Amino acid sequence: MKFQTTPYHFDLVKDNSRLSVFREAIKDYSGNMGLAYDLGCGSGILSYFLAWKFDEIIAIEIDSKTSRCAFNNLKDFDNVRVINKDVLEYDFSKKADLIVCEMLDTALIDEGEVQALNHARKYLKKDGKIIPKAIFNTAELVSMQRDYIHWDEDAKYETLSYTINYSNIDLTEYVDPDFNKTLEFKVNKDGIANGIKITTYTLLTDDIICGPTPMLNPPLLIPIDEIPVKCNDLINLKLRYIMGEGIETIEAER
Ligand SMILES: C[S@@+](CC[C@H](N)C(=O)[O-])C[C@H]1O[C@@H](n2cnc3c(N)ncnc32)[C@H](O)[C@@H]1O
Repeated sequence: MKFQTTPYHFDLVKDNSRLSVFREAIKDYSGNMGLAYDLGCGSGILSYFLAWKFDEIIAIEIDSKTSRCAFNNLKDFDNVRVINKDVLEYDFSKKADLIVCEMLDTALIDEGEVQALNHARKYLKKDGKIIPKAIFNTAELVSMQRDYIHWDEDAKYETLSYTINYSNIDLTEYVDPDFNKTLEFKVNKDGIANGIKITTYTLLTDDIICGPTPMLNPPLLIPIDEIPVKCNDLINLKLRYIMGEGIETIEAER
């Protein structure tokens, strides 16, 4: 089947590592198969996987051009309804067995996953499930070339500390979008630290975890004022951001 997509959603659909973990998570789902919500459905690819299992799928997409693609891609399934709306304005009326929400990005800072799930979670049945169910964030002190916040893609940097797991977010419970914490790094290499690298791991189900893929959560590099560091130093840095409100909200300082 050829999927209609925007260029961005084409890259998402082409990213096999991303897609296969979501496909497995949906395939492995063994709860009730009445209603599923697909929040931020994009081209409708995850609803396509859901459509073979569930009696009813409500797929919600904010962007009108993208939702038209989803509508065309899914028009042969009479159990799927595509709705062009902001999830935060959608009037949920029925409780679902499953909520799938792939509005993910590194540390959930730049997309509205947290806000969408905080809004929709009360429309999940008591024994219902959410995919993905949790996020783990890790950080390292780095020496990086660029002096602005950027995703790592082709960026150059050197790691100067051990990795710390600095936050675990349980998406099945209310999430406070305001993140504010002091992180302690143990240096393992002499150098000049001038950044923090954040990496996000997604727990789709109890059995499936996924690190960064080309289109899912590329590591994020955040500049800090230069700190000369030596092996075994302990460096404390304050990190603050608001999940869902964009990388402009990031503050990192000593
Ligand atoms: C990372 S893409 C993933 C698309 C699709 N779920 C997939 O896996 O291919 C996130 C999608 O969520 C949509 N989106 C973002 N905020 C939204 C909101 N508040 N309500 C509905 N859709 C939203 C975006 O337009 C985008 O299509």
